[in-house]
Amino acid sequence: MTIDPRILSLKDEVKAWRRDFHMHPEIGYEVHRTAGIVAEKLRAFGCDEVLEGIGKTGVVGLIHGRNGPGGRVVGLRADMDALPISEETNLPHASKISGKMHACGHDGHTATLLGAAKFLASTREFEGSVAVIFQPAEEGGAGGKAMVDDGMMDRFKIIEVYGMHNMPGMAAGAFAMCPGPIMAAADQFIIQIEGRGAHAAQPHQGIDPVLIGGHLLTALQSIASRNADPLKSVVVSTTMFHAGTAFNIIPQRAELTGTVRTLEAEMRDLAEGRMRDIVAGLARMFGAEITLDYQRGYPATVNAARETRYAAAAARAVAGDAQVNDDAAPLMGGEDFSYMLEARPGSYVFIGNGETAGLHHPAYDFNDDILPAGMQYWAEIARARTAANAAG
Ligand code: NI
Repeated sequence: MTIDPRILSLKDEVKAWRRDFHMHPEIGYEVHRTAGIVAEKLRAFGCDEVLEGIGKTGVVGLIHGRNGPGGRVVGLRADMDALPISEETNLPHASKISGKMHACGHDGHTATLLGAAKFLASTREFEGSVAVIFQPAEEGGAGGKAMVDDGMMDRFKIIEVYGMHNMPGMAAGAFAMCPGPIMAAADQFIIQIEGRGAHAAQPHQGIDPVLIGGHLLTALQSIASRNADPLKSVVVSTTMFHAGTAFNIIPQRAELTGTVRTLEAEMRDLAEGRMRDIVAGLARMFGAEITLDYQRGYPATVNAARETRYAAAAARAVAGDAQVNDDAAPLMGGEDFSYMLEARPGSYVFIGNGETAGLHHPAYDFNDDILPAGMQYWAEIARARTAANAAG
């Protein structure tokens, strides 16, 4: 691993920031304390511009390189929000706020990018400019979309954008990425079955929404197994099935809720279309009224091929060839950096968190030992991608 000694010397300071963020988790757009600290530090580092309140509570710092403004501007993005989970780590820096926890390591992402900003602002050993992007509400609130919709890309003239997320179970400080989709589109469906309630002993007088729900549950599994090309990814998970109040009553209604994950637009359309057909068909078959509320969530996170080669090269410069997998398998989770990648070419990579509890688990903690590798990766991207000759 090749880490600049000046970055290594920042490790203890950045670790203290990380642990402070960890002790004070904030959810969604309510990241006021975190965003305030981020903005205050960016100003203290001497960033050339610091803009708060973009995408509600997002923060962007602009750092010009040695030639001042006017060159290529590259965006580096971290997320700041925590999750509504009660922490079960017993660590000295465990969450002080009950029911909230940094269980996805966004505390680490924010601290890493802040550390990189400090390094970049104090050294200025690059040509164009770097926009450090701190977004709220990654966990379901589409904070990345809010920042893009607020005009962030044009406002700072960002031409490429890069993201990084830690990954438990991957060697600490190793990197993984792939060109094309790396994270899935994450949609939600809510299906309401309106039957006809009846005495359980007189089923012929009712329309049983529990039976219909059972057929529906099974039929939905045929989307992935019978409709989708076996070489393409579709996940259909029904995660809630609510109906009934007593053992001797056929209920009036039932509700099924779940999620659909896909990597390609074509498969997303297929899944939604088949779901509509299945619902309509079962409604006819059983004489019930069935409604489908299909809500498209985050789109797939699609890495640009060229920028992913640059990301892999930066990762190799940090971690060495053996610790970089540039042909990693995508994950079916969702990620709202997808909106930034829809706006500009770029790449989203994983950095290994070592053998820790998984993301969104109450025993999870970000691994402070990977802070320097993360900072060095950002410094490498900044140096390589702001260079005037990087355009070609
Ligand atoms: Ni996350």
